[in-house]
Amino acid sequence: MPDDFPLQSQTPDALMLFGFWYRALPANQLHRGQLAKTMLLEQPLVIGRDQQGQAFALRDACPHRGMPLSCGQFDGQQIECSYHGWKFDAHSGQCRLIPSLVAEQTLKIDRIYAGSYPCEERDDFVWVFIPDPGPAGAGFSKSAPAPVPAPEIPKFSKRYKLAYLTADLPCSVDHGIIGLMDPAHGPFVHQAWWWRTQKSIHEKQKNFEPIPYGFRMSAHTPSSNSAPYKLLRLYADADSISTTIDFVLPNLRSEIIRAGKYWFASLTTVTPITRTQCRIDVVAAWNLFRWIPFGPELLKFVFAKFVEQDRRTMELQSEGLKHNPHLMLIDDADRPAKWYFGLKNAMLEMKKNGGEFRHPMSGPVTLRWRS
Ligand code: FES
Ligand SMILES: [Fe+2]
Repeated sequence: MPDDFPLQSQTPDALMLFGFWYRALPANQLHRGQLAKTMLLEQPLVIGRDQQGQAFALRDACPHRGMPLSCGQFDGQQIECSYHGWKFDAHSGQCRLIPSLVAEQTLKIDRIYAGSYPCEERDDFVWVFIPDPGPAGAGFSKSAPAPVPAPEIPKFSKRYKLAYLTADLPCSVDHGIIGLMDPAHGPFVHQAWWWRTQKSIHEKQKNFEPIPYGFRMSAHTPSSNSAPYKLLRLYADADSISTTIDFVLPNLRSEIIRAGKYWFASLTTVTPITRTQCRIDVVAAWNLFRWIPFGPELLKFVFAKFVEQDRRTMELQSEGLKHNPHLMLIDDADRPAKWYFGLKNAMLEMKKNGGEFRHPMSGPVTLRWRS
């Protein structure tokens, strides 16, 4: 890929990738028999949980005259639109009742569908599959099942703990994602006495390799200049601690740390809400720190600090981005961001013209930067 890969041409319309699973909301925000309104990729959604506890997702617009279905009544099985009382099956979106019809009127109501989306629960989150925009006239078509199951955090023992964090970011999904994979902001944005200071900045060298629809920072021993890793090495009593970090389209960053029988895994997503808003969700699973009474709380506190520092930075950045300044991506620190745009282009290209996915990396690469 050319070195002057333009950031400009990518960001203004912040194209969103359809045909993938996205995190919609934390599962504990959804109660049986209740509806929640949300938005993913500029699609208004109503998400609910039926009587059996099963989550579902419908387009938040009645196929009759567009009334938001979230304004309707939900009996735990069907949603009744608040405008003319049409009823829809919560899972399939299939129409079950049109109250205005008289006996002789033979309209086949089971041919009518409210838009519905595949919906699954994973690791304390409700995920929704947002398909590629379908043909017009979707009011008469049943939605297709998702081609793949929703992503899941890998776990390496039977017992583990799980926690999540979520924050709204006032920027496009692209800036959210490249901010996430940016190694050079650490010493400036994430300073804390117990983590690292600006003075701890030093040269780093990391190996990357292409993986399907993404790239991997190959297994390495994490940077020795941070206190938590020193602690971890002591605690796990393991000589080797290895970390693998993957990024995979459309928005998945997964990190796995293993030290002897202990492990920590996280799956972070940056989800497009609109073209100018996104949301970061960090979900982590681990079997570490079980002996520390406040282990999970401590971990959550540390993560919350980081996410808040990132959120605040992006809030300020969005001020600067308002008037379309000239931007640049430099080597090697911004190379992962270039790969991200390359991967996204390849995906859009494949969706548009068919053919093979043209991965922007041809093989392993070593990057060097100071952070
Ligand atoms: S708009 Fe929903 S029933 Fe008419
Ligand atoms: Fe950060």
